[in-house]
Amino acid sequence: MTERSCLSIILAAGEGTRMKSARPKVLHEIAGLAMVAHVAAAAKAAGGGDVALVVGHGGDEVRKAAARLDPAPEIFVQEERLGTAHAVLAARAAIARGHDDILVMFGDTPLIEADVLLYARRKLAGGAAVVVVGFRPQNPAGYGRLIEKDGRLVAIREHKDASEAERKIGFCNGGLMAIGGSHALALLDAVGNANANQEFYLTDIVEIAAARGLDVVAVEASAESVLGINNRAELAEAEGIWQRRRRREAMLAGVTLIAPETVHFSHDTQIGQDTLVEPNVWFGPGVRIAAGATIHAFSHIEGATIATGSQVGPFARLRPGADLHEKAKVGNFCEVKKATVEKGAKVNHLTYIGDARVGEGANIGAGTVTCNYDGYSKFHTDIGAGAFVGSNSSLVAPVSLGDGAYVASGSVITEDVEADALAFGRARQKQIPGKARELRERFAAAAAAKKKAG
Ligand code: UD1
Ligand code: CA
Repeated sequence: MTERSCLSIILAAGEGTRMKSARPKVLHEIAGLAMVAHVAAAAKAAGGGDVALVVGHGGDEVRKAAARLDPAPEIFVQEERLGTAHAVLAARAAIARGHDDILVMFGDTPLIEADVLLYARRKLAGGAAVVVVGFRPQNPAGYGRLIEKDGRLVAIREHKDASEAERKIGFCNGGLMAIGGSHALALLDAVGNANANQEFYLTDIVEIAAARGLDVVAVEASAESVLGINNRAELAEAEGIWQRRRRREAMLAGVTLIAPETVHFSHDTQIGQDTLVEPNVWFGPGVRIAAGATIHAFSHIEGATIATGSQVGPFARLRPGADLHEKAKVGNFCEVKKATVEKGAKVNHLTYIGDARVGEGANIGAGTVTCNYDGYSKFHTDIGAGAFVGSNSSLVAPVSLGDGAYVASGSVITEDVEADALAFGRARQKQIPGKARELRERFAAAAAAKKKAG
C-alpha cells in the first residue's frame, strides 16, 4: 500500500449558515480541534497526507487555520458553489499531478476513521476505479441512494432526483469517495448538471464509470463515522461520539475511568497506564500524564504535565505550564499555573501557585498565595527543597525561599528567606492578662445604662 501515492481532497466550501456562527463551519471544534483538522488527521493516518483543501470564496479564516496543519495543505478556491464535482475540480492542478489514489472527503464529516479510508484505498489497489463509502442511516431522507444492479453499484441517485422506488433504498452515500488517479479527471470532466439542483454532482461519476465498464465498488461504514455536521446539535452529537471512542481507547490502554461518561478528553490528551481518573474531570489541550497518577474528581486540567505517582484534586485546577514531578500532590481547591512542583512536594489546600518553583519535598500550607502579578508584569517565586510555608501566607514575587526555609503562618513575605531560616512576616502576638474580662464588664455596663435611659 505504501508504494501507492495518495492525494486527499477535503471539500470545505460549505456555507454553514445553520451553525449560526461568525466562524466557518469546518473550524468548529471537536475535542478542541477544528473539524477540518480531524479530517486531515484521518487522511494522514491513511497515507493520504498530501492534502488539497478546497475553500469557498472569502475562506481566509479557513486558509489561516489550515496553514497550521501538519503537513499544511495546498489551498484551492471554489469561487462559486456549483456542486461537489465542481468543488473537487477546483483542485484540478493537484489531481493532474497524477497520484495513484485520490480520496475525497468533506470538511464537515469529522469522525471518519483511517481504517475506512485504508480499506477504500485497498479496493483501488485491487483495480476499482471508484470506491464509494456507503452507510445505512436510520432515516435515509436527504442522502444519495446507492443503486445496485446484479450486485454491482451502477449509480448514486440524490434524494431530490430519486424515484419513489429508489427512495426506498436504505444504503446511502456517506459522501466519501476514493477514485483511481488515472481515471479521476476523465470522470469528473464528464459530469453535467442536469438534475434537480442544477449542480455538478460528484456522485455522478459512479454512473459514468459504470457505463464505461470500469469497476465501481461500495464499502460500508458505520453511520457514526460519516456523520455530517450542519448545526450545533450535530456538533455536540459528534463530540459525544468522539469522546466515547477516546474513553474506550484510554481504558483499553490501561487507564481506569470510574465513570467514563463524565471524563472529557482533548484531542491530544496523553495518559499513561494505571492512571486513575475519578468522575467529572476535564482535560483541555496539551495534557500529558504519566503512568500511575491519580486524578481525583472535579479537576480541570490543561497544558499540564503530570508525572508518575502524582495526585491531583479533588477540585484542582492545573493551568498551562503546570509541571508536576514524581509523587507531587496538588490537592483540593488549588490552582497551579506555569509552575513546577518538584518531586514529592505538596500543595494541598486552597492555594495559588503561579510563576513558581516548589522544590522537592516542600510543603505549602493551606491558603498560600504566590503574589505573582502587580497588574503589569508577572514575577517568579522560588521555593527551595524541603521548605515549609505556613498556612495563609502571601509570597510577594519576585522572592525566593532557600532550601529548608520555614515561613510562619499568616506571613507576607516580601524579602528573600535564607536556607534553613525562620521568617515571620506578620505582627507579633501580644497578650494582656485579664483584659478580656475587663472589656466584657465595661461593655455590659454601657449597654445596661443605655437600655435604662431608653
Ligand atoms: C452529499 C452527497 C450525497 C451524500 C451526502 C452525505 C453529492 C452530490 N451528494 O450530499 O450523496 O449522501 O453528501 O452527507 O455529493 N461542497 C463544496 N462545494 C460545493 C458543494 C458542496 O465544497 O459546491 C462541500 C460542502 O461544504 C460539504 C460537502 O461538499 O462539505 C457536501 O456538500 P453538501 O451540499 O452538504 O452535500 P449533500 O447534499 O449533503
Ligand atoms: Ca451535507
